[in-house]
Amino acid sequence: MPFSPRIATIGAMIILDTSEESLRKAGAALASGLLVALPTETVYGLGADAFNPLAVAKVFEAKARPSFDPLIVHIARMEDLSRVAASVPPLAERLALALWPGPLTIILPKRPEVPDIVTSGLDTVAVRFPSHPVARRIIELSGTAVAAPSANPFGYISPTKAEHVARTLGGKIDFLVDGGPCAVGVESTVIDATKEIPELLRPGGMPLERIREIVGEIAVPPRFHGSESGPMASPGQLSSHYAPRSALRLFEFSSLCDAGIFPPQGRGAALVFDGERAAKLELSGRFDAVFALSEKGEMTEAAAALFALLHNLDFLEFDWIYAEKVPDEGLGRAIKDRLFRASRK
Ligand code: TXA
Ligand code: MG
Repeated sequence: MPFSPRIATIGAMIILDTSEESLRKAGAALASGLLVALPTETVYGLGADAFNPLAVAKVFEAKARPSFDPLIVHIARMEDLSRVAASVPPLAERLALALWPGPLTIILPKRPEVPDIVTSGLDTVAVRFPSHPVARRIIELSGTAVAAPSANPFGYISPTKAEHVARTLGGKIDFLVDGGPCAVGVESTVIDATKEIPELLRPGGMPLERIREIVGEIAVPPRFHGSESGPMASPGQLSSHYAPRSALRLFEFSSLCDAGIFPPQGRGAALVFDGERAAKLELSGRFDAVFALSEKGEMTEAAAALFALLHNLDFLEFDWIYAEKVPDEGLGRAIKDRLFRASRK
C-alpha cells in the first residue's frame, strides 16, 4: 500500500494523524520493531513491542534512560493481561476491573516471556490499560503489548503535546502520532499489587482516594507525605526528574507574597495554582512573569496544564522559577510530586 504521511516529517520521523489508515501504519511499525510515539490520556508514550528486546533497547537509547529504570507494558484488552503477568492477585483484579482502562499502572509478577530489558531484570512487570482511544487502537492493531515510557529525554519534562515530543526526541524515533493534547496531563498512578497491602509507588492521574475506595488500605511511603527521605521503592522515582533547564524552587504561596524572600538575579517567573493568586503576585512586581496552572483554580485543569506550562517556561528561558506547593489531595498529590522532583536538580 503506498504510504503518504498526512502532516509532516521531522528528520527521519514521520508524523501521523489519527485516521484509521495512519493508526494501521503505527500498529504495523510497532509490530516490525520500530519506535512509535503515541498519545495516551496521561502523557505521550514512546512505544515499542514489549516482546522485542531490540526494539525496547532502542527506547532506552532514544531517551538516554538508565537500564535500571523499568518500563510500563501497555495492553488494550483485559485478556492480554495474562500474556504479561504470571498471576493476578484478587486485589489487583478488583483494581483492574474497577479502574481500567484509565491512568493506573499495576505492578504484578511477570511472565518469563517478558524480556528482562523491559523490567530491568525484576521479577515483576508494570501493566497499564490506557483509556485513550488512539492508544488503544494502535496497541490493538500492533497485535502485541507495547512497552512505553513517557516520550521525553530521561530526566526532562514529560510531553503532553505532540510538539513536545517532536522538539525533544524528533530525530530519534520512527513515527509520532499526533492526537492533540493529553487530557489528564500527569503520568499514571503506580500501585504495587504484589505486596499484601498494596503500595503507592508514584502518585498520578488516578487519585489515591479513588483507589482506596476499591481496595481499602494502601501503603503510602513517607516521601509522598512531603518528606524528602525514605527508600526509593520504584526504580524510576529518582528525585531529580521532570527538570526544566531553569532553576525551580517550591514555596508556600504565603512565602511567595513575602517580600522577605529575595528573588535571585536574572529573569524569574512565578507559577501558582489559580488566577486570583497570579493577579496578587503580579501586583507585587517582583517577578518578570506570573503563570497560573488553572485560571479557575480547578485541580483537573491544573494537572492537564502542568507539563505544557513547564515546557513553555523553559522555552522562555527564565533563569529561575518559583512554584507554589499545591494541596495534597486528589491530583494535587501528583502535581506536587512532579514539581518537587523538578526542583531537585
Ligand atoms: O502514564 C504513564 O504511566 C506513562 C504513559 C506513557 O503510559 N508512562 C510512564 O512511563 O510514565 P515512565 O517510564 O515514564 O514511568 C514508569 C514508572 C517508573 O517510575 C518506573 O520505575 C516504574 O513505572 N516501574 C516500571 N516497572 C516497574 C516495576 N516492575 N516495579 C516498580 N516500578 C516499576
Ligand atoms: Mg517518565
